[in-house]
Amino acid sequence: MVDIKSDASLESMRAAGRVVAQALTAVREAADVGVPLRDLDETARAVLREAGADSPFLGYHPAWAPLPYPAVICTSVNDAIVHGIPDTYRLHDGDLVSIDCGATLGGWVGDSAISFTVGRARPADVRLVETAGAALAAGIAAAVVGNRIGDIAHAVGRVCRAAGYGIPKGFGGHGVGRTMHEDPGVPNEGRPGRGMPLRHGMVLAIEPMLIGSGTDRHYTAHDGWTIRTLDKSRAAHAEHTVAITTDGPRILTAL
Ligand code: MF3
Ligand code: CO
Repeated sequence: MVDIKSDASLESMRAAGRVVAQALTAVREAADVGVPLRDLDETARAVLREAGADSPFLGYHPAWAPLPYPAVICTSVNDAIVHGIPDTYRLHDGDLVSIDCGATLGGWVGDSAISFTVGRARPADVRLVETAGAALAAGIAAAVVGNRIGDIAHAVGRVCRAAGYGIPKGFGGHGVGRTMHEDPGVPNEGRPGRGMPLRHGMVLAIEPMLIGSGTDRHYTAHDGWTIRTLDKSRAAHAEHTVAITTDGPRILTAL
């Protein structure tokens, strides 16, 4: 069932989304060679605390996961695509990092992710990160009244495939609202003109995931959470929570 939000609810979701943006900004500033991933989780926790927000990630326990999610951010480094758990690993020169963060404020959720490199970047990683951003931008541009879910999926997938990247199967975006994962699913590849029509008041997390080598294959690590590329190639991830409105797409997780 798709929940349509009132304009007042969209304003509340914007406030939640801004907290996510502030947390991601702080984490990005803190991330550097030698910094342990757990410190980045602490950085995000401090921003959420300061804003009076809760974490929709912490304690999240879907049926497929062996343990509740233990952190407020996901830290997915190099061949990790998504859902990496922050641990004692210290960032290395040239690492490609994806940070995913959520916030719940006033009962509403925001969900967003960024990818970036630390230290001396590999050119291939710079291109991968840029393409993740371009795929997200294309998906957002397609998130307009009159389009359908398939138009977003097609826009995202086309940018990824045109650049020669793989798209992990079984993962994608989702509706967002009072809970982090709502209907509808937002695939990262699809056919234009198909799927649910987009309406004013729908809120979607659009989140392209790109695999550098061009393969779509991945596996779940022993921690039960981290999704890694099968061939060890690097991956990038970008995400925004976006409201569909008659005035066009509104990015709720912008600063
Ligand atoms: N943006 C991620 C998703 O929608 C957030 C995952 S939170 C976690 O899957 F707790 F499941 F890690
Ligand atoms: Co998400």
